[in-house]
Amino acid sequence: MTTLDTNLADLLKPLTAGQIHAATRVWMAPLTRSRSKQPGDVPWELNAEYYGQRADPKKGAAVIISEATQVSSQGKGYAFTPGIHSKEQVEGWKLVTKAVHDKGGIILAQLWHVGRISHTDLQPGGGKPVAPSAIRAESKTYTSKDSGLVPTSEPRALETDEIPGVVEQFRQAAQNAKDAGFDGVEIHGANGYLLQQFLRSASNTRTDQYGGSLENRARFCLEVAEAVLTVWEPGKVGYRVSPLGEASDNPQDRPIDTYSYLAAELGKLGLAYIHVVEEFGSATRSDENEPVFAAIRSAFRDAGGHAYVGNGEYTAETAAQRIATDKADAIAFGKPFISNPDLAERFRRDAPLNEWDRDTFYGGGAEGYTTYPPLD
Ligand SMILES: Cc1cc2nc3c(=O)[nH]c(=O)nc-3n(C[C@H](O)[C@H](O)[C@H](O)COP(=O)(O)O)c2cc1C
Repeated sequence: MTTLDTNLADLLKPLTAGQIHAATRVWMAPLTRSRSKQPGDVPWELNAEYYGQRADPKKGAAVIISEATQVSSQGKGYAFTPGIHSKEQVEGWKLVTKAVHDKGGIILAQLWHVGRISHTDLQPGGGKPVAPSAIRAESKTYTSKDSGLVPTSEPRALETDEIPGVVEQFRQAAQNAKDAGFDGVEIHGANGYLLQQFLRSASNTRTDQYGGSLENRARFCLEVAEAVLTVWEPGKVGYRVSPLGEASDNPQDRPIDTYSYLAAELGKLGLAYIHVVEEFGSATRSDENEPVFAAIRSAFRDAGGHAYVGNGEYTAETAAQRIATDKADAIAFGKPFISNPDLAERFRRDAPLNEWDRDTFYGGGAEGYTTYPPLD
């Protein structure tokens, strides 16, 4: 066997991350596809078919992380994304989890609150989106099919006494995920949304216990994690970060200090995995940035956390290399899973990959969603 073959075998071997027993190291990254049923942002049969196509744990994703799903109507930032706060949504997600389980797969719900990346048109009663501080993001969102991209609205700062209510939205959503048949949850702490808005000083200028020092800025993130752990055992919970990402007008902020602190605190809680967006948008997995990932990896593992899941522009070769050198325990693939429902099988057979079509990433129907063919 060549070195590459040996490495590929590493990518396809099983992994136990906390209480998640994954058939391979090939996981599916969370992917917003904006195809929930309207009105009500409800998952439906089409979504169940899409996830079911990718759910064979050996040929497709060993673990599927769902598209981001809003924990409340206040947490919504884009038209047509699903929620997990109404009865109808929970019923809709049951179709999805059943389709995945029928294939023997594992699916986790990614719990999402967009904070300031929203618009008054999407908010209950047309109110302002909420955020740690009243600082508007130079960013855009979709409010309807016809709106095109529109600038986000000016947010209002959450009152200190409102924050437990937002934490409770995550706890309730975690409970709803359990009721809907998910196998666990991933807390969305990445990509410029509410948790990251608290963590970074560019978007958090608060003077109460949720702002100022790193410990204070991380407080909300950790309170959310602790609330989720009142519902789920830590071995079934992951947390996603994008330490170098600057999406949604959220510049990075001493990434090694910030994220090794957060990773250690999450590790102490015994979480199943930390999911690190290493490369996306302006962030890259360059040699210069390796110390950031290494710091997160060791802080999380040393404190009692389980797996490190890497993500971002991976191929079978780079992923296998990463696992073989203990730089990651699993790799989450995003765009490759959009166009290749049987991605792991293609890796195994060294078969060519279908290319993805960016025009059908967000919104629409079956085209570019459930229409990508498997090998067989
Ligand atoms: C269409 C699309 C939708 C995405 N939706 C989400 C999402 O809902 N939650 C999230 O954390 N990241 C989301 N991302 C980021 C991906 O999970 C991933 O980090 C990124 O695509 C880089 O990985 P890849 O090169 O394997 O695609 C999205 C990316 C794309 C292209």
